[in-house]
Amino acid sequence: MGQTVFIPRELDANEPRVAASPETVKRLAGLGFEVIVEKGAGLGSRITDQEFATAGGTIGTSGDAKNADVVLKVRRPTDAELKGYKSGAAVIAIMDPYGNDPALAAMAKAGITAFSMEFMPRITRAQVMDVLSSQANLAGYQAVVDAAAEYDRALPMMMTAAGTVPAAKTFIMGVGVAGLQAIATARRLGAVVTATDVRPAVKEQVQSLGAKFLAVEDEEFKAAETAGGYAKEMSKEYQAKQAALTAEHIAKQDIVITTALIPGRPAPKLVSAAMVASMKPGSVIVDLAVERGGNVEGAVPGRVVTTENGVKIVGHLNVPGRVAASASLLYAKNLYAFLETMVDKATKGLAIKRDDELVKATMLTDAGQIVHPSFAKAAETPRTEPAAIPATVLVADTADKKPVPRKRAAAKSPSPKPEGTA
Ligand code: NAI
Repeated sequence: MGQTVFIPRELDANEPRVAASPETVKRLAGLGFEVIVEKGAGLGSRITDQEFATAGGTIGTSGDAKNADVVLKVRRPTDAELKGYKSGAAVIAIMDPYGNDPALAAMAKAGITAFSMEFMPRITRAQVMDVLSSQANLAGYQAVVDAAAEYDRALPMMMTAAGTVPAAKTFIMGVGVAGLQAIATARRLGAVVTATDVRPAVKEQVQSLGAKFLAVEDEEFKAAETAGGYAKEMSKEYQAKQAALTAEHIAKQDIVITTALIPGRPAPKLVSAAMVASMKPGSVIVDLAVERGGNVEGAVPGRVVTTENGVKIVGHLNVPGRVAASASLLYAKNLYAFLETMVDKATKGLAIKRDDELVKATMLTDAGQIVHPSFAKAAETPRTEPAAIPATVLVADTADKKPVPRKRAAAKSPSPKPEGTA
């Protein structure tokens, strides 16, 4: 009999996503795996046990984890879950290892080979496995939908016999994958959109989506993008100039959506309490970075706060989970694509190639040890600062020996500049 893949029901009450879809179960079975899906695992994403069974899965219980050679998950396994896995099992999930050293040590001790999907290098061959992109894209969309739901006026301009409704002025701060989709979504809803970012490459992309770009475009800005396309932490001086420029702008906005992140660092503070206080009553701010420390002063994780001056600050957790039925399908596909690279087609078994760059970038623990370069040292000497993003994530596409075209999820995608030319 072939090896076994187990897909559990996520234990976190705030996690409606699931790590498999009927399509990926079918394809896993096609690879030769026996696929066991825990009863009810898909219900938060509106996938029934019957659909998984029809696709070729067996419906089981949490106890089936002990026989699994591969466990596919959304979130890092809890200590209780780890106890139920067999030593040597490959466990693939969004592991969120930064600042979670005890959890990392527990995974090593359990003897599992743990893979962190969010460390997948952003190279051409791994685009289909990029969970940060697949989930951030939906989060950017959902942020606009959430803002529109909290906003008590219409977003598009409407000229009617009874009068004109003005278009909502919407400002997107941070234009990565989530920000681009937020721009595209707000534009589709008819809002007047402006956007800011510290990476110069973004300007053209913002404009091609029909939005206006606003930023302090000094020398530091021109050098603000890393080789991997991520933002650097900006100097105090730059942040002060940025705040002065955006303060005036924010006061005139109806909706502000913040998505700014710096890999391995706390989210930059972009909207101060004074800026919030300058906004009109009824304005809405959505802080997509709230789980990473937040971009907005006064944002509370998991809550919608109304300030004294009547501004709503939305701090929903797990925003991709708010569109779980879509998010799970994409996430499941990301996992499948990665697992497929580790299957020996001849023996129909798992054959983890430890020198593969995808494996090297994502493997956290193996054979009882913490093996990831960003964490292996930290396990010996306690770290005070979060580790930098792994070098493997930041390098350009060395395997393909050509610049990586950045595939955009947003509509009307521009033909982006290749990496490193910004
Ligand atoms: P992210 O989630 O790390 O950050 C979101 C955005 O916040 C970024 O655009 C960043 O520049 C911005 N930001 C950081 N500090 C800021 C500040 N002080 N003020 C304003 N904005 C600030 O970014 P994400 O979405 O992961 O994208 C990072 C890059 O990776 C992008 O260039 C994206 O196009 C690229 N990418 C490449 C892929 C590939 O080559 N396969 C796939 C997906 C993304």
